[in-house]
Amino acid sequence: MPEKVLVTREIPSAGLRVLEGFDVAVLSEGPPERGELLEAVRGVAGILSTVTETVDTELMDAAGGDLRVIANMAVGYDNVDLDAAGERGVVVTNTPEVLNETTADTAFMLLLAAARRLGEAERLLRSGGWDAWGPMQLTGPDVWGKKLGVVGFGRIGQALAHRARGFDMEVLYHDQYRNESAEQETGAQYLELEELLETADFISVHTPLTPETRHLIGPGELDLMKPTAILVNSSRGPVVDEAALADALEQGSIFAAGLDVYEEEPEVHPKLLELENVVLAPHIGSASIETRDKMAVLAAENLVAVLRGEDPTTPVDA
Ligand code: GLV
Repeated sequence: MPEKVLVTREIPSAGLRVLEGFDVAVLSEGPPERGELLEAVRGVAGILSTVTETVDTELMDAAGGDLRVIANMAVGYDNVDLDAAGERGVVVTNTPEVLNETTADTAFMLLLAAARRLGEAERLLRSGGWDAWGPMQLTGPDVWGKKLGVVGFGRIGQALAHRARGFDMEVLYHDQYRNESAEQETGAQYLELEELLETADFISVHTPLTPETRHLIGPGELDLMKPTAILVNSSRGPVVDEAALADALEQGSIFAAGLDVYEEEPEVHPKLLELENVVLAPHIGSASIETRDKMAVLAAENLVAVLRGEDPTTPVDA
């Protein structure tokens, strides 16, 4: 009897092909209802999950004793309870590396769009409100030649630094640890967080979500930023205090923001929805066709490896 595998959402077919030979159920196109998920997970040996599912004690217990692997199709795994998995001997895997460049593209796209007011410009045009070219119409700050502050200098943060160099930007970074080889490779300079926030023209956040990084950017940090600063978040929503950011944008204490992630997805703070000076994307950081294929394949390969008793390529270190 082939072992049972649950794929919680429809994923690119390249990933499903890797699972051939198992008894695979794909639960739903959209985020599955919790009750449905708890039902569907019964008796499975592997779960291929996405960021929209909370994989906790309850879900693992509903799966039962056959469960051996949770393969999350994301680099982030804050939706998975690692302790609960560890206690049950369940291996957790993620999909790092394959999405670095695409996610850095998204961050740079948001940075450019927020600076050059692309969302506002498009809304003006689509609403029929654009009547003529204007000498001072929709002007925003230049990006090229400015200072970029990268908060969280892991693989995606470094990929962003490479893009910034192409725009002749000076790159500053802050992380828990200094990374001298990354400094040499990217030309980035290490600063303490406070100094980075005071100095940078653009601040882009690339930390994982952990208890330590929750609200890493709150009212105090926003206050340190220049009134001309632009904040970009494509990591996880709760790393930025969304209500404090909405206030700062409304009061003009920073110039603009570009967001791809939110504290309570798919909810967005209502004030942000009303503001012109924020570009809002619906968590599309890794959403290129090629990258989503690679993520699906890597997640599926990790799952298959564990079920075959082999080491997965990218386990999450508990
Ligand atoms: C997406 O948000 C991811 O973590 O890959």
